[in-house]
Amino acid sequence: MNLKLLTGVIVSTAFLLPGSASGQTADFNIVPQPLQADVTNDAPFILNGKTSIVVATSNNDLKRNATLLASYIEQTTGVRPTVGKQGKDATAIVLSIDKTISNAEGYKLDVDAKRISIAGASAAGVFYGIQTLRKSLPVVSGKASQVTIPCAHIVDAPRFSYRGTHLDVSRHFVSTDEIRQFIDILALHNINRFHWHLTDDQGWRIEIKKYPLLTKVGSKRTQTVIGHNTGKYDGKPYGGFYTQKEIRDIVKYAADRYITIVPEIDLPGHMQAALAAYPELGCTGGPYKVWEMWGVSDNVLCAGNDKTMKFVDDVLKEVVALFPSKYIHVGGDECPKTQWQKCPKCQARIKALHLEAKDGHTAEERLQSYVITHASNYLKSLGRNTIGWDEILEGGLAEGATVMSWRGETGGIAAAKQHHDVVMTPNSYLYFDYYQSLDKANEPEAIGGYLPLERVYSYEPMPKELTADEARHIIGVQANIWTEYMPTFKQMQYMALPRMAALSEVQWSQPELKNYADFTSRLVKFTHLYDHQGYNYAKHLFNVNIHVDADTKWQEIVVHLTTTGDAEIRYTLDGTEPTANSPLYVGAITLQKSANICAAAFRDGKRSSVSRQEINFNKATACPITLLQPTHKNYTYNGAATLTDGLLGDKGFGTGRWLGFCENDLEAVIDMQKPSVISHVELNTCVDKGSWILDARDIEVSVSQDGKTFKQVATKQLPTLGEDAADKVYTHKLDFQPTKARYVKVKATSERNMPEWHSGKGKPAFLFVDEISIM
Ligand code: ACM
Ligand code: ZN
Repeated sequence: MNLKLLTGVIVSTAFLLPGSASGQTADFNIVPQPLQADVTNDAPFILNGKTSIVVATSNNDLKRNATLLASYIEQTTGVRPTVGKQGKDATAIVLSIDKTISNAEGYKLDVDAKRISIAGASAAGVFYGIQTLRKSLPVVSGKASQVTIPCAHIVDAPRFSYRGTHLDVSRHFVSTDEIRQFIDILALHNINRFHWHLTDDQGWRIEIKKYPLLTKVGSKRTQTVIGHNTGKYDGKPYGGFYTQKEIRDIVKYAADRYITIVPEIDLPGHMQAALAAYPELGCTGGPYKVWEMWGVSDNVLCAGNDKTMKFVDDVLKEVVALFPSKYIHVGGDECPKTQWQKCPKCQARIKALHLEAKDGHTAEERLQSYVITHASNYLKSLGRNTIGWDEILEGGLAEGATVMSWRGETGGIAAAKQHHDVVMTPNSYLYFDYYQSLDKANEPEAIGGYLPLERVYSYEPMPKELTADEARHIIGVQANIWTEYMPTFKQMQYMALPRMAALSEVQWSQPELKNYADFTSRLVKFTHLYDHQGYNYAKHLFNVNIHVDADTKWQEIVVHLTTTGDAEIRYTLDGTEPTANSPLYVGAITLQKSANICAAAFRDGKRSSVSRQEINFNKATACPITLLQPTHKNYTYNGAATLTDGLLGDKGFGTGRWLGFCENDLEAVIDMQKPSVISHVELNTCVDKGSWILDARDIEVSVSQDGKTFKQVATKQLPTLGEDAADKVYTHKLDFQPTKARYVKVKATSERNMPEWHSGKGKPAFLFVDEISIM
């Protein structure tokens, strides 16, 4: 942490337990970390019932801020300062505007014995100073007699101006009270944009006066699929929507917390709920029903129908009237073109507009660009800007449109190079619907993937590929919460927290100040506030993190066990549950044979949840490995060593355990370091057809004594994957005559031409491979 110590000793940092109701001390070890916080041991400020909050001007925004601060202080400490004039001999917290602060959301916070001054460049800046003060306070159960706030000088400002979090209320609805709570959670994390995903195939959630059936019909589904499109349904009607009055109130509630709501009307795909209400807007004319399963529906708006364009304008007009946001989100993601290819109206529009396939884009992709450009021009006529998912690049970006890069950073980089603004929200770092732990059996069901807290924290939004001029177009960062597998707001909280805390430092803090260990120690204190507010958050932070490295020099696996703070870690290697008598972890564990590691942290005599990791040894494990063809850049993770690290990739291609290849093959050479007799090679592939990940086609094993001349010893041909093939891990085994060799080359070719049944037919598929074993 950047607490510069001027004189004396600062207050203890991490692991302050929630306070009891006596004298209490604040500290500035908060999340997100301030840019600069100097704390001294000069006489501190004493906060008590006589303290008043004074607003230096007759500024209504500051008055509202003062009232919010009073309630934050009361919530956390039980002490309620008065808002108004400073009492004689009493301490005061003074809020003011300081136009000399250059960042529009920046603030200064100064604490001395008499006074706390929070001066912001704007009322928003003051609000962030208030959040900092609020988070510095001890969480008191009951009422503190007084709180000691150390003498401090803080200068702070955010790194990015767009700091967002998205919430999908279509798949599962969130009540207005819960939306207010969500906004409170965003404010606590210094987030200033709430991207409200209001419409999708599974439910239309915003009242549109001109099209009443959107909510009357489109907000209700008859039932919901159970699990991952199992084919079984719950039989329970489901619905909900927000009236325009409710939306206005929520927009105000958010604005009072300096949060702009960016509404999303997802078009032209993800529109099946709207089509259920107005089937004439679809290519086939329906009938349609509000979708009862998850995925990407083929039923999209008919882009050849003038009525559709009118519908888009009419809806956007009402949306603009409700939401003051400069940006209006028009979706643009995942719009299958299968119906447009067959629809006479869509094809007539393509012809009339001379939309030809060119520059790698189909005529139908250009038709999508036409729809988005139409919406964008209409928004521009109303004085607003368009923002959309990165698919809006396909077929040409609408003038002035801002791109939300979700399929990795590729779209964001391309848009910035075209001088369009970008919000980074790559799924591999910022999709909070992904699992937080690999121990999926002990997690609520999630969509898949693996996105632990540390990976969120590690995200750097500024791509190295960009010049300084292009980099200016990266205006911010956002996390997305898609709710297919989150039926309740409590579960949404669990998926969001504490990953949102990591997000907040990506958005707010300067990269050179970031430090994960330091962040987690501050986060421990922050969780006391989560507890106090009754937020449901994931507690993996308190478990043991098992980190495995391959030592290719000695062919050993090196295991590091860490946890937050200085709790004792105890472990076993045989899969049994660790107890207080199990071996104490004192430093890295080296392994030369298979093991089943179980580890837990012990705090105050209590054991955390048990973390587990199997290590599988074979002749390839921890051997040097080289890739002769590159991985896909989004799925490179730890590089080649991932394939021989003793860790088996399991379900879910995005766990970091799998390497992904596209338009390239797995082609790896393993150096066993000395000649060895071998007769068997196997490798696993992970198939997920909906994510365009198919199986390998040809697998080939060759061996060599010198690493230069290879002799083929086994091959296997696999047919194109069938439509009915399961999404799962496939093990491919190749046996051959016992052969003595030092080097083994394994090649598995990827599918270059996806079959007719697949929506990506003719395009190259991904190939995901993990552990290569040699026996
Ligand atoms: C998205 O995740 N479909 C933007
Ligand atoms: Zn059509």
